[in-house]
Amino acid sequence: MKTKEITQPMGDVGATVDHPKPHVTAKDYAEMYAASVRDPNTFWAEQGKRLDWIKPFSKVKNTSFEPGNIDIRWFEDGTLNVSANCIDRHLAKRGDQTAIIWEPDDSRTEKAQHITYRQLHNSVCKMANVLRSLGVDKGDRVVIYLPMIPEAAFAMLACTRIGAIHSIVFAGFSPDALGARINGCDAKVVITADFAPRGGRETPLKSNADTALLHCKEHVKCLVVKRTGGQTTWTNRDHDCNAMMDEASAECAPVEMAAEDPLFILYTSGSTGQPKGVVHTTGGYLLYAAMTHQIVFDYHDGDIFWCTADVGWVTGHSYIVYGPLANGATTVMFEGVPTYPDAGRFWEVCAEHKVNQFYTAPTAIRALMGAGNDWVEKHDLSSLRVLGSVGEPINPEAWNWYNDVVGKGNCPIVDTFWQTETGGHMLTPLPGATTLKPGAAQQPFFGVQPVVLEPTSGDVVEGNGVEGVLCIKDSWPGQMRTVWGDHERFEKTYFGDYKGYYFSGDGCRRDEDGDYWITGRVDDVINVSGHRMGTAEVESALVAHAKVAESAVVGYPHDVKGQGIYAYVTLMNGQEPSDELRKELEVWVRTEIGPIAKPDLIQWAPGLPKTRSGKIMRRILRKIAEDDYDSLGDTSTLADPLVVDDLIANRMNRR
Ligand code: WTA
Repeated sequence: MKTKEITQPMGDVGATVDHPKPHVTAKDYAEMYAASVRDPNTFWAEQGKRLDWIKPFSKVKNTSFEPGNIDIRWFEDGTLNVSANCIDRHLAKRGDQTAIIWEPDDSRTEKAQHITYRQLHNSVCKMANVLRSLGVDKGDRVVIYLPMIPEAAFAMLACTRIGAIHSIVFAGFSPDALGARINGCDAKVVITADFAPRGGRETPLKSNADTALLHCKEHVKCLVVKRTGGQTTWTNRDHDCNAMMDEASAECAPVEMAAEDPLFILYTSGSTGQPKGVVHTTGGYLLYAAMTHQIVFDYHDGDIFWCTADVGWVTGHSYIVYGPLANGATTVMFEGVPTYPDAGRFWEVCAEHKVNQFYTAPTAIRALMGAGNDWVEKHDLSSLRVLGSVGEPINPEAWNWYNDVVGKGNCPIVDTFWQTETGGHMLTPLPGATTLKPGAAQQPFFGVQPVVLEPTSGDVVEGNGVEGVLCIKDSWPGQMRTVWGDHERFEKTYFGDYKGYYFSGDGCRRDEDGDYWITGRVDDVINVSGHRMGTAEVESALVAHAKVAESAVVGYPHDVKGQGIYAYVTLMNGQEPSDELRKELEVWVRTEIGPIAKPDLIQWAPGLPKTRSGKIMRRILRKIAEDDYDSLGDTSTLADPLVVDDLIANRMNRR
């Protein structure tokens, strides 16, 4: 399909009732961006005023990308409390304003809830006191394994109130994955719920947590929230959250935290090994989340903002909870999925709550596009002003559909490129300031200095109309500070390949106009429905099965998910391939990691293409998985070139 280029800075329509004047115009952007790069200390000192500090900072930026000394600090002598910034400071003006609109999985059987800032304050203080009564103190870790219910936000903010560090584990992860994360950060408490309703099904969260906790230290406590009231077993490490909150005091003074004290840990997949605990800290992260939320979505007081992500991912951290609440916004929290009870659910919720900014992932857009326009057209979407996309490159067909059918050509689309590691948006158009190009993330946000490097030499590629790997030249406040418990891994992963730069893991193109296009991961990370998955993780789950000798996992293009998981599996001697075994392996991976890691295609491989030194040639496996085996390139260095013929003959993805 031909791509359409939007030639006007959309949204720059002046202040009308429907369209307030954008926070940033094209001219502002150019000036502010130049200032942010020329003199970051002055720029960020000014932006630092967005937060309420207990003790104001005197130092702004103190960062080093120097090999052997990666050290990132922002506002380091300032002190603040995140929950006070997200709640208390709004009470005088917005005590009765809705902070969170909670939308249940099934709107036919349950009603939405509106939680005001005052009610939020009350619940967060109570939950903070409950955590304290379980022995949680400043610096302790709390794992949150909850459905998308208000208690998830209460729990996050309660941790920040008392200075505890939260680590959220997506409710779709298996007991094994949960257990590894509880142990990884040595958590004192796990907060979970009886069940997690999603798309009409219920995940037994409490029972998953019980299984996980079998492999954790005995003293780890489990705080259980009632969601469905379904039956669960009760052990003596369990505590009833609802009963304890009823009894708890609604007063809890916010603890003074240093700007560089850890705020949360979030485990994310990388190209090697098991997921790593990305650490974000208090001051820089909150400031960056708040600022990007306001400017990138052009959020104005009174707007209703909806990010459809789950709080188990970084998008939910920054753009459901921290960014919006720091700005005194009304944020929608959705428990369900885009297609339940029907494919009109997103649009029904937008109409019902008069959503102004809507932020979702290309995979959801493609799925809904496939369901047809009727589902969109029967709902009144006139409140929408800005649309957002995140998680993977958005293809022009999906972009155009989002623009034409959902936005009716009136809503700028912000295609935001960022990562768990970056805390907030890195490359993105700004509504009202950027001439949009479907599929491009376009421009750096303030303070972000992208560079394109030649992948093998690491040389900086200057000029426009060029391609390479995407690196960032200098620090920004939302940057991750370390890998939990392993600073060396942090240095090696992000600064090891290209000295002096932060390496994103993504490839990119800078076009003739200087706009950036993300071309996808250049490492062994795949992006399934906007969720990051390390191929190494899936491989290690597969080889943990008794019948599997070896496995190699690659991504392949998938119409809805963006990428699908393609697994080549070599069985142990004497094991016969069968459809039953294929099913068994699918279930196995689901149990080891979670449903999102289930291979879409499993090919039985008598052997894997390896170099003479034993290295698997993934390039070849990717090509075969893509059904593009004519251009395999040089296979002469393979130890046994014949295995390739077998893999081609039995390939699973035939288009
Ligand atoms: C990809 C999600 C193209 C990219 C916030 C990145 C994107 C990874 C975009 C991070 C986008 C995210 N265009 N690719 N707008 N947004 N990505 O850590 O490959 O779950 O490295 O963070 O998603 O995924 P993560």
